[in-house]
Amino acid sequence: IGRTALRTAAPLRSASRLFSSSASQNSAVAVLGASGGIGQPLSLLLKNDPLVTSLRLFDVRLAPGVAADISHVNTPAITTGYSPDGPEGGLEKALEGADIIVIPAGVPRKPGMTRDDLFNTNASIVRDLAKTAAKVAPKAHLLVISNPVNSTVPIVAEVFKKAGVYDPKRLFGVTTLDVTRASTFLSGIAGLKPSDVVVPVVGGHSGVTIVPLLSQAGPAAKSVQPGEQYEKLVHRIQFGGDEVVKAKDGAGSATLSMAYAGAVFANALMRAAKGESGVKECSYVESPLYKDQGATFFASPITLGAEGVKEIHPVGNVSAEEEKLLEAAIPELKKNIEKGVAWVAENP
Ligand code: NAI
Repeated sequence: IGRTALRTAAPLRSASRLFSSSASQNSAVAVLGASGGIGQPLSLLLKNDPLVTSLRLFDVRLAPGVAADISHVNTPAITTGYSPDGPEGGLEKALEGADIIVIPAGVPRKPGMTRDDLFNTNASIVRDLAKTAAKVAPKAHLLVISNPVNSTVPIVAEVFKKAGVYDPKRLFGVTTLDVTRASTFLSGIAGLKPSDVVVPVVGGHSGVTIVPLLSQAGPAAKSVQPGEQYEKLVHRIQFGGDEVVKAKDGAGSATLSMAYAGAVFANALMRAAKGESGVKECSYVESPLYKDQGATFFASPITLGAEGVKEIHPVGNVSAEEEKLLEAAIPELKKNIEKGVAWVAENP
């Protein structure tokens, strides 16, 4: 991940992009699960993004209300809410002509739960939403936030394959929050601006499958002492979500920082779609990198283009510690992917 990536993935730069540049191309974005803890702030951030021209908010509850509220913000995106039986039409109407579909629908973790504990509930929600997306907007870029991302993304892929419309370049598991956390935590230790510290995070999106490549973080990497300090930092990046789950004490998991990260990733896709070159972000996609070890999906730095994934970058030079982290991540990732694929085969 090079200097370009550092610029495009840096939170502060991305944030300023959310408030500045002018659109030259239409972008219709649909948020499914728009009334939830992530969905509401994510929808607000998307409404604030000048690249979004049409914003469709769908949820099984409250979406027209959330849309009415957000629609009063004086930015260009035309905002409409859709509920399953509402007069505006349901999910199909929300997805008609969508360029980007973001899915934060599902249930979040409570203290003591792993992301995998959410599997059954969220797997069916994501499968059903994906079925309609495959029918109504098969060419949209699909961004999966619902956990466990390691499994829900392969589930969407299978649904799209079955519908005969799967394009691996357009399906993304959103892992931007891991990159965001890594930047925040490492810059705090290094005493640098977060925008100057970019840590590629590869692998997947849960526990040991989250592999921060601190050795590739430039000068900031040198501020971390090997041994205990390094291990603590890696653990904090891998299990940062647990900090939030615990602090919220039963009321949910990360929502605001996740909304921010989701908006950053959607903004990157839209910039790439309108022709900006060198847009690079980490994301969990179908990938050749560790396919021979069974990890058919893998997060790594990706250059985005008009059609979605333009180039998947390899993990590059890693330290001995990072090699060990990768060794622990791959078998777990493989298991999570197989679980998703097996589940959707049994529950089509
Ligand atoms: P939440 O419970 O606050 O919101 C979920 C929303 O989805 C609710 O408004 C609910 O009505 C809606 N919903 C449920 N079934 C639906 C369906 N069939 N169609 C449309 N909407 C539906 O949960 P929160 O906190 O917003 O989290 C959402 C998901 O995001 C969870 O699975 C959570 O684990 C995941 N997450 C992912 C992160 C990531 O980095 N990828 C980070 C944090 C959370």
